Amino acid sequence: MSKAYNEMSYVEVAAIYNDINNIPLDAAEALGKSTAELVGEGAKIMDFGGGAGRISVPIAAHTDMIAMDIEHHMLKASKKLAADRNIAARQAVGTVLQTPFATNTFDAVITTNVLHQIEFWRDALKEAARVLKPEGLFLIGRDVLDESSNAAVLRSQSRMFTVDIAPEMQPTDAAGPALFQEIQKLGGQMTRPVVACSWIERVSVAEILDRMENGIHNETWSLKRELIDALMAKVRPWAEENFDDIHAVEDVKWEFHLYPISGIGK
Ligand SMILES: C[S@@+](CC[C@H](N)C(=O)[O-])C[C@H]1O[C@@H](n2cnc3c(N)ncnc32)[C@H](O)[C@@H]1O
Repeated sequence: MSKAYNEMSYVEVAAIYNDINNIPLDAAEALGKSTAELVGEGAKIMDFGGGAGRISVPIAAHTDMIAMDIEHHMLKASKKLAADRNIAARQAVGTVLQTPFATNTFDAVITTNVLHQIEFWRDALKEAARVLKPEGLFLIGRDVLDESSNAAVLRSQSRMFTVDIAPEMQPTDAAGPALFQEIQKLGGQMTRPVVACSWIERVSVAEILDRMENGIHNETWSLKRELIDALMAKVRPWAEENFDDIHAVEDVKWEFHLYPISGIGK
């Protein structure tokens, strides 16, 4: 695992993870329905690195879901979310590198924002291939921020500053084309991505900057205080200079995409 990701603490962030990565309830319900359309109502599905449940729980409303995660605090938050929404969902603590399930068990495996954090992500893919039924579907989920929004421009620049300040803050190569090369090696074939749900976040650049500074934003929650301070010292003046009005509230469009991949379970 890269040095940066060793510094993450899912223990601390577990209770607020779903607020930081919010999918509003109606969008979450749409996500559950869209996923069920792909995998079938009642399908047996595992969420690899299910985290605090913002994705596995709405899908569990339509399927036989088990969310696996290495961090039990995240699963505790997931359990709470399921209870709050009155949805039956199962959780299992463990690593997705080696799960306790028999070969050919699942109709689908979904994973979102996980593989790029795992050094041996290729082994996780092989494990997904093993537990999937031959006709099973591997789904990669992705939060997609409207690239033309101020929020996206700010995020890109923040990432550039972060890598500049701390070059070790790089995800693994699963964040790039290596992931799809590996999927192809396993016989995977991608079909058309699906927009599983969308929602609008009304937010200003100033508000995003404040969240970043307080470590309650996706770009900063895993950073040490010194690094956040160093980042803010760069990104605040940059934002003041590059946006007309950082206090202007913008409707930012988010989508959740699913990339369906067949063939890796064969
Ligand atoms: C960025 S979070 C994503 C959570 C969830 N998929 C989502 O999108 O909301 C990454 C999750 O992967 C989990 N994780 C990291 N390495 C893992 C491993 N080897 N096995 C299982 N879970 C792992 C972490 O504990 C964390 O909950």
